[in-house]
Amino acid sequence: MTESYGWVPEGVDITVPDASRVYDYALGGVHNFAVDREFWHRAEKMFPDARLVARANRAFLGRAVRRLTALGVRQFLDIGSGIPTLGNVHEVAQEADPEARVMYVDIDPIAVQQSRSLLVGNPYARVVQGDLRKPDDILYHPEVLDLFDFSEPMAVLTVAVLHFVPDSAGPAAILRRLGEPLVSGSHLVLSHFGPASTPEGREAQEQTRRLYEKTPTPLVIRSREQIAALLGDEFELLPPGVAGSAEWHPDPDEAADPPQPTVLVAMARKRA
Ligand SMILES: C[S@@+](CC[C@H](N)C(=O)[O-])C[C@H]1O[C@@H](n2cnc3c(N)ncnc32)[C@H](O)[C@@H]1O
Repeated sequence: MTESYGWVPEGVDITVPDASRVYDYALGGVHNFAVDREFWHRAEKMFPDARLVARANRAFLGRAVRRLTALGVRQFLDIGSGIPTLGNVHEVAQEADPEARVMYVDIDPIAVQQSRSLLVGNPYARVVQGDLRKPDDILYHPEVLDLFDFSEPMAVLTVAVLHFVPDSAGPAAILRRLGEPLVSGSHLVLSHFGPASTPEGREAQEQTRRLYEKTPTPLVIRSREQIAALLGDEFELLPPGVAGSAEWHPDPDEAADPPQPTVLVAMARKRA
């Protein structure tokens, strides 16, 4: 069957696998290409739990946003937001408050385009293209300044994206910069690919990591300690700290997949 590429924005290279499209495929989406699907099947062969990892990550995102809305947060800056799928941040947040504000940011033009078309008619949720490695361009983007009230608490979400930021790009400095303009009551949420617990698992991960070297966003695996260290002085880690996704405030009403210890997650609060 031939794929129709009429919806692909100009300049997008569909001959190279891309993290957003690979993840979209993993979650059952349709905005991906043969090269992404092939990449995913190779990754899954090496790392059979890969789909469960993607699902565990997505489930964490939903729990984190629900928790934040319960804490009174009504503004969400979701960086590395991906191609829209089930349980998007604005859907979860606006269930608690229809006027909750959400700005999606992604480096991938397809993620931006698909988010934009989903958000037509929603005055409180928007999307811009941006690069987490350039936090000032995000914070001072005219649409971001227009949507958010920086005198009110905000949540910055960096879910399944920091592992695409190498040490050379200064991930701790990026988080510090993102945290600086936030007022007390603001939060940072992250999830990150972490090391497997067995030598076989680590070998499988290493193969997956090498596979990602062929994409525009190579993968960096970090330990719990390394992830905690990224938070610096700007944020205070909340219980249970950097944890496996299944250990992080499990929801008794949620259908639970087997725990995925390689999905490390955390929520932190802006220090007063
Ligand atoms: C695995 S998806 C995660 C999507 C969503 N946050 C979630 O957890 O369900 C990672 C996303 O990060 C985006 N990404 C990778 N590097 C980025 C960067 N430097 N700045 C912004 N987005 C980036 C990719 O395009 C992709 O859409």
